[in-house]
Amino acid sequence: MPDAPARLTEIRGEAQAAIEAASSAATLEELRVRYLGRKSELTGMLRSIGDLPPDQRGPVGKGANEVKHTLESLLEERVAGLEASELDERLRTDAVDVTLPGDPPAASGHLHLVTQTRREIEDVFLGLGFSVAEGPEIEFDYYNFTALNHPPDHPARLLQDTFYVDLRCWRGDPLRGHPAQWPDRRSGCAPRRDEVLLRTHTSPVQVRSMEAQPPPIYVIVPGKTYRRDSDATHTPMFHQVEGLAIDEDITLADLQGVLLEFARATFGSEREIRLRPHYFPFTEPSVEVDVSCFNCAGSGWVGSGKDSARMPNASHPGPCRLCKGSGWIEILGSGMVDPNVLGFVAEGGYDPERVQGFAFGMGIERIAMLKHGVPDLRLFFENDVRFLEQFGP
Ligand code: DAH
Repeated sequence: MPDAPARLTEIRGEAQAAIEAASSAATLEELRVRYLGRKSELTGMLRSIGDLPPDQRGPVGKGANEVKHTLESLLEERVAGLEASELDERLRTDAVDVTLPGDPPAASGHLHLVTQTRREIEDVFLGLGFSVAEGPEIEFDYYNFTALNHPPDHPARLLQDTFYVDLRCWRGDPLRGHPAQWPDRRSGCAPRRDEVLLRTHTSPVQVRSMEAQPPPIYVIVPGKTYRRDSDATHTPMFHQVEGLAIDEDITLADLQGVLLEFARATFGSEREIRLRPHYFPFTEPSVEVDVSCFNCAGSGWVGSGKDSARMPNASHPGPCRLCKGSGWIEILGSGMVDPNVLGFVAEGGYDPERVQGFAFGMGIERIAMLKHGVPDLRLFFENDVRFLEQFGP
């Protein structure tokens, strides 16, 4: 081996430069094979030490081993360094921010039209300063009828109209904890079967709300109601929203203003309302409220110019089918709260000589049917997705 020490110096220089310049673990592995592998020049030199003249074997063997160890430790250092920076890089780029909110599930449904309509109604009255109250669906005759001034022989009390609850089927004492709700508290006798029922309207919550707080009171009461009825415009269960406002100096004009606001928010800003005399046991005077028809703009007539795509007879001039040619559509019942009703809560501050107010009640499905042209009330509860999904976002 002519001038082996010089060759060793060259190998070391070349290998060192290559190792320092390498930028990946894979390149370093290649360099390890090239400079230290079985077929490398250095390994060859170490293997053939025995062929050297005896006086050169020691220094060349020592020199070659030194180069080998230097390159080995250099490689080790670089591999460790590169692995650390590769890890740093991965940690940086693969970072997961565990504080971010999770991916929301893809929307797979939407609110039922009855719920949407209920919320829209609530929004209107919340904006007018009313708050939302609720009451029980299984109700006492007292709240559903008696305290609402229904005479004992009122037809709504008949079995044909109302679902009564047979308390002999109840376990325990469902009435405990409701002393004030009991018409005949003193006797302590078991309730008769006709004294508990599924509420036929949300109006019982008028008296319940007044028992719960002194005047002034401005509440609306959405909820389920039940009647023995079943056809295209009646289902045994349906929804109502009740309204009650009691204060000093409330007049029928306040009722009219509030309901005009509601009608315009719900059916369009051009709408008008009218109050028609009517009868309800718990209001005096009582009115039914109509909104001007939004299908024929109150004219009672649809012609080619201003017809509605929704109505089947839209393209043929003729009387409007929605309002049956009258220009008006009934939307709710209402009136000034009868002083007799206030008499049931007079002890709570509702002295009929001092406070007065109005009440109203509307069917949520009826509002939705009018607004969206739904022809049959039963569609709301059949849960046919072909119907339901027409009212999605
Ligand atoms: N409760 C009545 C019904 O279900 C609706 C109603 C009419 C409610 C007049 C009222 C009212 O509060 O004042 O038919």
